[in-house]
Amino acid sequence: MNHLSKKKILLIICGGISAYKSLEIIRLLKKNDVTIKTILTKSGAEFVTPLSIASLSQSKVYQNLFSLENEVEMDHISLSRWADLILIAPATANTISKLASGSSDDLASTVALASDKKIFIAPAMNVRMWSHESTKQNIAKLKTYNYELIGPEIGDMACGEFGEGKMSEPKDIVSEISNYFKNLKKRHKLKAIVTAGPTNEYIDPVRFITNKSSGKQGYEIAKSLSKNGFDTTLISGPTNLEISNDINLIKVETAEEMFQATLKSLPAEVAIFSAAVSDYKLKKSSETKIKYQDHLSLELEKNVDILSYVSNHNSLRPKLVIGFAAETNNLKDYANKKLNKKNCDWIIANDVSNKEIGFNSDFNEVTIIYKNKKADKIKYRSKSEISDEVVEKIVNHLN
Ligand code: CTP
Repeated sequence: MNHLSKKKILLIICGGISAYKSLEIIRLLKKNDVTIKTILTKSGAEFVTPLSIASLSQSKVYQNLFSLENEVEMDHISLSRWADLILIAPATANTISKLASGSSDDLASTVALASDKKIFIAPAMNVRMWSHESTKQNIAKLKTYNYELIGPEIGDMACGEFGEGKMSEPKDIVSEISNYFKNLKKRHKLKAIVTAGPTNEYIDPVRFITNKSSGKQGYEIAKSLSKNGFDTTLISGPTNLEISNDINLIKVETAEEMFQATLKSLPAEVAIFSAAVSDYKLKKSSETKIKYQDHLSLELEKNVDILSYVSNHNSLRPKLVIGFAAETNNLKDYANKKLNKKNCDWIIANDVSNKEIGFNSDFNEVTIIYKNKKADKIKYRSKSEISDEVVEKIVNHLN
């Protein structure tokens, strides 16, 4: 089955010797019944001509940000929305740097910044440029922005050197894109729920009990699920984070609100409970601000355990229920106990005693503990990369 058929792809060609391979990408995409529009950057035009692109793609080539003709026909915002997917091939170190910094000084970077679609980049550059720390950091940043990387490969370079930085072959690039659409279709109907962030339990109108949690890991998991084709609902306590609008975001504040939002969002095939839900709430919170006093005692009562409720509910229980265990000591032991006590299928355990990882950090290190197989450790990585690995395991499990 042709998963590319009738798809709309916006191809951005930057300046590099491998720009000639983009013509082959166009040819392969056309062969697979894809509609293509192309943006050719100023330096890209030094390597391939608009005429050859237009002839092969049978479509217009866009070059300038401030072109009256283009803006009337299709402005840069519409262009970014028109596509099902954006492919930047070759992506130069310069363009990668612009995308990482959010710069928008030409048509290509403006369209990428304005896009709400999946963006694939196929880097091509000299081996030293690719291994330079600044490029590494830019790539890491782009991954957190949900860009998908294809390649680069190791091999002989046009400059005569050998190493990593060669653009992937057109047939491999086209095959990755085809796989993306294939997976998207496969999981189109699968629903996933993620809880994230802390909850606030009010003592009075200006004070509350909360848990330490940035919500970053949960948000990254929601992003990975969505980019893998899951219909994703993120139920989030108060955080400073933002999420793209292809994810259904439900903002809540208290554990009770999180519980109600979770029930409303079910049924789902997968539920991931990453929220740091406050275990207790005030038996009765004060409607007016409590005035300073020498002694104050607060009467607390237990909050509903959302994860346990869902995982023990016969008809509501998703196929795969995943909990989190953030521990400061006895990680494996406590996490194993939680797995059984809360009746979940997997527990993602992380050690929060290490300041480098966990809370508020962009990095983490986790162990996935399963009900009936050996645990998997995911070593120190960005939260985005960890999420991609977790979601890959979810996909394999559901398959
Ligand atoms: N959880 C939940 N609802 C609660 C408390 C916890 O859904 N009221 C979920 C969390 O989202 C997490 C898992 O249960 O996936 C474990 O949370 P944690 O706070 O570590 O567990 P507790 O049962 O509160 O254990 P303890 O605080 O004693 O470690």
